[in-house]
Amino acid sequence: MAIQKIKENIFSLGTQHWERRIFDELIPTPDGTSYNSYLIVGKEKIALIDTADPSKKDEFIENLKLCGIKKLDLLISNHAEQDHSGCIPDVLSLFPEAKVVTNEKGKSMLMDLLRVIEEKFLTVKDGDTISLGEKTLKFIFTPWVHWPETMVSYLEEEKILFSCDFFGSHYATSSLFATDEERILEDAKRYYAEIMMPFRIQIKKNIEIVESLSLEMIAPSHGPIWKNPSFIINAYKEWISDKFRNIVLIPFVSMHGSTKKMVEYLCDSLMKFGIDVKLFSLPVTDIGEFAIELVDAPTIVIGSPTVLTGAHPLSIFSAYLVNALRPKTRFATVVGSYGWGGKAVEHIQNQFLNLKIDFLEPVLIKGYPRKEDLALLDNLANRIYQKHKDIGLIK
Ligand code: FEO
Repeated sequence: MAIQKIKENIFSLGTQHWERRIFDELIPTPDGTSYNSYLIVGKEKIALIDTADPSKKDEFIENLKLCGIKKLDLLISNHAEQDHSGCIPDVLSLFPEAKVVTNEKGKSMLMDLLRVIEEKFLTVKDGDTISLGEKTLKFIFTPWVHWPETMVSYLEEEKILFSCDFFGSHYATSSLFATDEERILEDAKRYYAEIMMPFRIQIKKNIEIVESLSLEMIAPSHGPIWKNPSFIINAYKEWISDKFRNIVLIPFVSMHGSTKKMVEYLCDSLMKFGIDVKLFSLPVTDIGEFAIELVDAPTIVIGSPTVLTGAHPLSIFSAYLVNALRPKTRFATVVGSYGWGGKAVEHIQNQFLNLKIDFLEPVLIKGYPRKEDLALLDNLANRIYQKHKDIGLIK
């Protein structure tokens, strides 16, 4: 990807990973991603902010050479995860005089992850500044967006926040700026749901810090630059808020049709109560889409058959994922069918260790659902309706 000028003496050396379709071997990235790196050429010092994923090393180093800089003073590592730090050793080979600027936690991680030697580091404290001459970089600690060492770098005179993962989106594009904000918002929300949602509480504090800055741009290390910072900040405020939609999510798996019949019946019954419903067939669903819906869903019903003596592994995976992503979900339960018994409910319920969930009475039936079994699902829909009423979603 060509070097792109953001402002006078400020450049993006970002590499686009158009074809990447999975991140961390877990998270679908339907629109690819980018690893943004920013070069600031000051009158006295030159700084590079973040690098690129090792898979893009050749392209990234080529870009850096094309910049024509004769020296690099500061290599700022906002975040030690390898998709941003992975080319630090290569940059240091090219510019051995450069100091890696990070905090103590970041230094320790980079020493562990990339075997960067201690002498290469210049550590900063929260609020420290470094002058590049006519420009000043301020380092602001924003722990847990996404790892404990995460920080952001603020270019004071230009009012640009280099936010690394924070406000990022897995979205490969040739556009430097987020010109189609609503389109990019879809991937930003996916990014929030998959990466940031477990840190919702910490993000609340970090948003306040960001809002206290005078901002003209937010330049994340994934996806395009936000020229209208309040757009993405307001979106984040909405996502981390305590607001719910009147919706029930039903991730399910069915082997012989019994559990499928149950979840479809429950779906219809909930709709009669005026509740939106979204079903996710776990063997084929994009878990990112499920994660996006988790952002403001109050209720999850997991549909699972019993395999041998327990829950289907895919239904356990969905519960494990919900627990890991820590959404603000308030209510959960299980529906499903079994042949001769088992512990499907316990297996699923035991996954929700991180969540303060009101676990509603499950509906487990033997074989294909009969009329009286369907009545149990109507009762469950009614209970969910009452719960949604209790939290003000239904008048
Ligand atoms: Fe994009 Fe947490 O790394």
